Amino acid sequence: MKIRKSVLLSGMFALSGLFTAGFAQSDVDKRVEELLSKMTLEEKLGQMNQVSFFAVDDKAIAQYSDDDMDAFLVRMGIAGGQGQKKPSEMSKQEKIDLIKAEADKMLDSNITGPVRNGKIGSLLNVTDAEMVNKMQKAALEDSRLGIPLIIGRDVIHGFKTIFPIPLGQAASFDPQLVEDGARVAAVEARSTGVTWTFAPMLDISRDARWGRIAESLGEDPYLGGVLGAAMVRGFQGNGNLNDPGSVAACVKHFIGYGAAEGGRDYNSTNIPPHLMRNVYLRPFHEAIKAGAATLMTSFNDNDGIPASGNGYILKNILRDEWKFDGFVVSDWNSVGEMIAHGYAKDDRQAAELSANAGLDMEMVTGSYMKYLPELIKEGIVSMETVDNAVRNILRIKFRMGLFENPYVDTKKASVLYADDHLKAARQAAIESAILLKNDNNTLPLSEAKKIAVIGPMADAPHDQMGTWVFDGDKNYTVTPVGALKGEYKHIDYVYEPALGYSRDKNTANFEKAKQAAASADVAVVFLGEEAILSGEAHSLSNINLIGVQSDLLKAVKSAGKPVVLVIMSGRPLTIERDLPYADAVLFNFHPGTMGGPAIFDLLFGKANPSGKLPVTFVREVGQIPMYYNHNSTGRPAPEKVMTLDQIELEAGQTSLGNTSFYLDSGKDPLFPFGYGLSYTTFEYSDITLSSPSIPMNGTLTVKVTLKNTGKVDGAEVAQLYIQDIVGSVIRPVKELKGFQRVALKAGEAKTIEFSLTTNDLAFYGRDLVEKAEKGDFNVWVGGNSNASLRSTFSVTE
Ligand code: BGC
Repeated sequence: MKIRKSVLLSGMFALSGLFTAGFAQSDVDKRVEELLSKMTLEEKLGQMNQVSFFAVDDKAIAQYSDDDMDAFLVRMGIAGGQGQKKPSEMSKQEKIDLIKAEADKMLDSNITGPVRNGKIGSLLNVTDAEMVNKMQKAALEDSRLGIPLIIGRDVIHGFKTIFPIPLGQAASFDPQLVEDGARVAAVEARSTGVTWTFAPMLDISRDARWGRIAESLGEDPYLGGVLGAAMVRGFQGNGNLNDPGSVAACVKHFIGYGAAEGGRDYNSTNIPPHLMRNVYLRPFHEAIKAGAATLMTSFNDNDGIPASGNGYILKNILRDEWKFDGFVVSDWNSVGEMIAHGYAKDDRQAAELSANAGLDMEMVTGSYMKYLPELIKEGIVSMETVDNAVRNILRIKFRMGLFENPYVDTKKASVLYADDHLKAARQAAIESAILLKNDNNTLPLSEAKKIAVIGPMADAPHDQMGTWVFDGDKNYTVTPVGALKGEYKHIDYVYEPALGYSRDKNTANFEKAKQAAASADVAVVFLGEEAILSGEAHSLSNINLIGVQSDLLKAVKSAGKPVVLVIMSGRPLTIERDLPYADAVLFNFHPGTMGGPAIFDLLFGKANPSGKLPVTFVREVGQIPMYYNHNSTGRPAPEKVMTLDQIELEAGQTSLGNTSFYLDSGKDPLFPFGYGLSYTTFEYSDITLSSPSIPMNGTLTVKVTLKNTGKVDGAEVAQLYIQDIVGSVIRPVKELKGFQRVALKAGEAKTIEFSLTTNDLAFYGRDLVEKAEKGDFNVWVGGNSNASLRSTFSVTE
């Protein structure tokens, strides 16, 4: 956020598959062709040009420092020159008025003017309804052809009402909940004129060092595909793209961005073809099948080719194989960045490479507008390439009904922070929390007991919202302390934050925290990460609890009272060293606006935790990458592996077992994918298959008895995994192929049923064609990826 603001200010200085219900596809095609036939080359290139909006209002200017204002006035030649007043001779209001007038002039010459001239097809980052209407008026009423703008914004996990970060939503394993959350975000964003969100991010992420793991749906391609498709349905109104509560989705980042080397953002990826097909591309394909209108290329190069210049992925895979007929936008200047990659020698060549690769719209670089006319004249880029790009863009604008319905009705009652939106966000935060430990049934807490509330995340309204929040207002956030002052005010509590924020290293108040714990029946310690420590360009090489938070936890534990650790963070953390100091651990990926009440609903047992880890939690950062669905190796580690202290002094050169593990951290993660406890217990038994074998194209039914064996009602996410034992390329040791959220009363048992078709077993084998292969399979059903209840079946010809 801060960075974007300063970019905006320095920008000122520098300025010098599915069809939308309501429109038949043939009508859309006809309208596209009619319009295209009237367009000049410049108007066509205008559609392919996306510009970042900037407007500066008095309030925003008033927040700039005096030095910034003075520097701006001088740099823009408005003050301090010959015959001009010096900034020091001006009142603050005078400076604000001058800057505002200059900004308005720049807005007109750089944005409104070009929009009127048909030179801009899309704006990003305008969220003020009046301003959107002004821009749309320039596009529709003042331009020659009256083509509406499509207005983009990063609405990643809520617009105003903030839901848990996507990684948290993934922990719910609840597609309906995720779809509903995206719908709320769409309705709120659309009410201010945003018609396009740059979400969902479907980058498979197996590295918690990477800051953008927060924005991902985790490590698994099946889970990512199911939930990504749900988000697309939510944003796009389940196919009703022209509904006034819908926004176009943009699946990103195509492709491989989450596999950045070492978790360093923007770094190279090296994903070979089978892995690419079987893992990284899968969620994208599912989201495209669900009707995603647009797709964004990624910053990274894979095996030496930057995504924004990669015709194989944009044409062969996306268009020819997947039949995608929406449009492709670059990431922020990813076309221009091909120069820094050493792939294009200048902007002209970057424009050529991207246009010829099939990239339809450029985000902010502006090189199409500048260089495509000459590249076309010289026959380096064809007119057909440009026409196809424009067709793709117009097709979506028509499907969205933007020609008919471009304006925001500013008189309509506000839907922002509507009660049902807050309720949905609270439910999402409840289902997204993962109970990692609960010794001696420390949780749920009795409301009759006194609690000590400790830690920097107990009352951090901004940080609780997490990364990628441009529009959410922290004043609407209900923190845990906020919940104790409101809905939970009957609880007897003492509050001692001890640290001002997660990185704070001042231990002066640790003694007070200890005393607070001693004075209460139980201590609840809220630790984690500030929002700014995850997200884009926020990678970490150490993912322990940051700063001195682990020491705070130890200090609190030394008071001798039960300790509940509640974490709010943007990524998995290495918390093994902290576990001995907490009797219970409730892990929340930043839970959003309603995190506070949701957490207390869980702590007091009004709700029962049911979230499951969408990503493996490692014991040590050095274990990364570690994910449950890795390939079978020739030397798998046995149940028990050698540890460092078992090695004899001066031991001779020995194989120590010759298997795949670490001497210092073993073979297992801290918590496996799919893991999460409940206040009750569940038992899986009686796995039965409809048949020991199925023919190609057949269906197998897998039945299991799931019983709530504890004393309270709860919900369990039952997970089905398979293993294709022998393949033409090596298959993973386990693959998630189904999951169900099952609500069970205390003592209740249900038979749950999964069906598997051979399509579900298909993968890209040696010949890179997707098909199931005959052979033997293992199948497991259980509460996490270590599920042991197993059966076998085979696939025959
Ligand atoms: C990010 C994208 C985002 C875009 C527009 C880029 O820096 O990588 O995910 O949509 O900015 O804000």
